[in-house]
Amino acid sequence: MREMKLGLFFAPGGHHLAAWRHPDAYPRGFSFESYIAAARLAERGCFDMVFVADVFSLTPDGARADSFRFEPITLLSGLAVATSKIGLVATATTSFNEPFNVARKFASLDHMSNGRAGWNIVTSSSTLEAFNFGLQEHAGHADRYRKAHEFVEVVRGLWDSWDDDAIVLDKERGFFFDAAKMHMLNHKGPHFSVRGPLTLPRSPQGHPILVQAGSSDDGKNLAAEFAEVIFTIQRDLGDAQTFYADVKSRAASFGRDPRHALVMPGVMPIVGRSRQEARDNYEQLQRLIHPEAGLAALSRTLGTDLSGIDVDGPLPDIEIEKLSQSRAVGMVLTARRDGLTVRQVYERLVVSKGHRQIIGTAADIADTLQEWFEGGAADGYNVMPGIMPNGLSDFVELVVPELRRRGLFRTAYEGSTLREHLGLPRPVNTRSQA
Ligand SMILES: Cc1cc2nc3c(=O)[nH]c(=O)nc-3n(C[C@H](O)[C@H](O)[C@H](O)COP(=O)(O)O)c2cc1C
Repeated sequence: MREMKLGLFFAPGGHHLAAWRHPDAYPRGFSFESYIAAARLAERGCFDMVFVADVFSLTPDGARADSFRFEPITLLSGLAVATSKIGLVATATTSFNEPFNVARKFASLDHMSNGRAGWNIVTSSSTLEAFNFGLQEHAGHADRYRKAHEFVEVVRGLWDSWDDDAIVLDKERGFFFDAAKMHMLNHKGPHFSVRGPLTLPRSPQGHPILVQAGSSDDGKNLAAEFAEVIFTIQRDLGDAQTFYADVKSRAASFGRDPRHALVMPGVMPIVGRSRQEARDNYEQLQRLIHPEAGLAALSRTLGTDLSGIDVDGPLPDIEIEKLSQSRAVGMVLTARRDGLTVRQVYERLVVSKGHRQIIGTAADIADTLQEWFEGGAADGYNVMPGIMPNGLSDFVELVVPELRRRGLFRTAYEGSTLREHLGLPRPVNTRSQA
């Protein structure tokens, strides 16, 4: 039977915009210990993976609680020791890295975690990030994706530098590796020139899992060609089904098995032992939204300064064509369709970074997760607890058992690598057959 995949999207205090102000959030402050506790809790719930996002800049006003972040590979290397089964997915941008570094880091993480590494490929969207890399501006959207494409090809080529059986360790004859099973890359392209080989044996998964989250045409094509997990923001079942079908058919057009491109929308669950308790938990968070913080977060999302605007008036006309992010376009369209005020936009959409909010009992939440899963809209979910750690423990203790009762989720890990959890094949080293 097909089972749902679950990822924990890390946010130290929780994903709700105002979570950090909640008395129960940040019990350990911003600390490595809280990440360890969260990863172990997710592993207790048999989640497929934890996922860490990454941006190389603070938001302009510094008001966002989730601006602070550890460097992802450093963080996940620590978590590899603190856990034993759960997958470890880190974000690395193709805009401010070199492919050799990225290939080496993820191969190292894959070895050190015994096959649990994944790479979330992003192109980065903020000019503020470019300012930290000696640049005056960030490259345009199409250029970023062209570079990303070449970047991923180089990384995959480097991961195939060695045949799986290249390390012979023949102490008697004095051969550490079999040189015939080593492959130079000798890549020369518009953006990169990389000789290779990678200075590590092929890693346990062959290739760490590739993850992508773009929703533009270029983004979806990159995902369809390479990604094994696709994160996405989807609030409506119909839209989610369209996105799902689109990504799967694009994957097929690249000659891939669409079942190997897993679509995982984000969800922010707010769980209660009763519907009333869930609503109360949600309202408690909503009351903590400072109007200025709500407005600032909306301004950032839309890339438009809305300070001083009447929050109880309608959203001003914003040229949708100028909004680069799919997150922003979706918000404006929803606001227009539902006639939302500015306050309603940030209260209903921005608080969860545009992701779907599900408020209810474990059965309510399992119902909707099941509906999307069985209705051609999702292969699993990137779970974004509203508040940490309680939102995650509620999910693990209440929702996971409900999913198990329905036969929708594993009761124990059967495999040991992230690839095995996700039911994805280990890539053949095509260069070794060459
Ligand atoms: C769940 C999720 C996580 C993301 N994580 C990151 C991230 O860590 N860093 C980043 O720069 N962009 C991140 N993004 C943004 C996307 O990778 C992508 O850049 C953005 O959606 C714009 O791409 P598009 O124009 O193809 O839609 C994330 C998006 C989603 C939905």
